[in-house]
Amino acid sequence: MGNEIRALAGDYPGFDFLYTDIDELDITDPLKVDAFFRENQPRAVINCAAYTAVDKAESDEPTAYLINAKAVENLSKSAAGIDALMVHISTDYVFDGNSPVPYNETDLTNPQSAYGRSKLAGEEAVRNNAGKGIILRTSWLYSAFGNNFVKTMMRYGSERDELKVVFDQVGTPTYARDLAGTILDIIPSALQNSGTELFHYSNEGVASWYDFAKTIMALAGIECQIKPILTKNYPLPAPRPCFSVLNKSKIKEIYKIEIPYWCDSVKHCIQRLQYEV
Ligand SMILES: NC(=O)c1ccc[n+]([C@@H]2O[C@H](COP(=O)([O-])OP(=O)(O)OC[C@H]3O[C@@H](n4cnc5c(N)ncnc54)[C@H](OP(=O)(O)O)[C@@H]3O)[C@@H](O)[C@H]2O)c1
Repeated sequence: MGNEIRALAGDYPGFDFLYTDIDELDITDPLKVDAFFRENQPRAVINCAAYTAVDKAESDEPTAYLINAKAVENLSKSAAGIDALMVHISTDYVFDGNSPVPYNETDLTNPQSAYGRSKLAGEEAVRNNAGKGIILRTSWLYSAFGNNFVKTMMRYGSERDELKVVFDQVGTPTYARDLAGTILDIIPSALQNSGTELFHYSNEGVASWYDFAKTIMALAGIECQIKPILTKNYPLPAPRPCFSVLNKSKIKEIYKIEIPYWCDSVKHCIQRLQYEV
């Protein structure tokens, strides 16, 4: 996510960007976060850092909370101290997946995994500590950078004749570049906010992981058979919501944004991976 913001920065000449990773600023250290903010005086802070190892979090919940909740409290408090906007990314995994219709921001949360619980605690940390904040819940994030489903499928698909992918978890893939652009577009107006607003953001449309994998193979021109399987036949430590489609009406109405269809964005990402990155 952070790399996609960096990749888009050239399109926003009105902003000065300052990037940090754990080497420059460990966000679990409240004193360092506060000193860094006071020294650099950002007007907005975009927290792309997180503990995202969903399965590992089941056996390492304290570390997931440290990064996904306590560090978010540190950032939110220090952002409030310099009157900066706190932009935070959360997840569809705060829901249990039992809804028959896309989730609204006002729907009851009920995380089923340690990761989901730690991310929900992070949302609370923003709400309780940021002077002005935006929380964007997103789902199934992928990009041209780092490790993610698109890159993993392209790699495995080139090495194997057949892959088994679950078809009974339904959600929406989200291209981190699209989310990055939306964040940068809405910041000028969000700077005027007071309090914290919660939004849902994913690409448009709906898919299972099986559909997502089939689409990746077709768009990348990779000859690999994708076979649908049930989640119960691919057991993992952390339970995932079987349905986590997000309703994006609120962000579209308030900020007048158009969101790309998920297949179009996967195509864009694969083209970058094949020809640019
Ligand atoms: N990936 C998804 O499918 C998905 C879905 C929904 C929501 N989200 C949310 O979207 C956001 C971005 O996710 P992502 O996939 O871009 O995550 P990511 O690729 O795992 O990147 C997270 C980054 O946080 C850094 N980090 C970890 N601990 C840190 C610390 N103490 N101080 C400073 N940096 C630290 C990591 O550094 P190291 O690499 O050095 O550890 C890594 O660069 C997260 O909030 C995530 O919860 C993700």
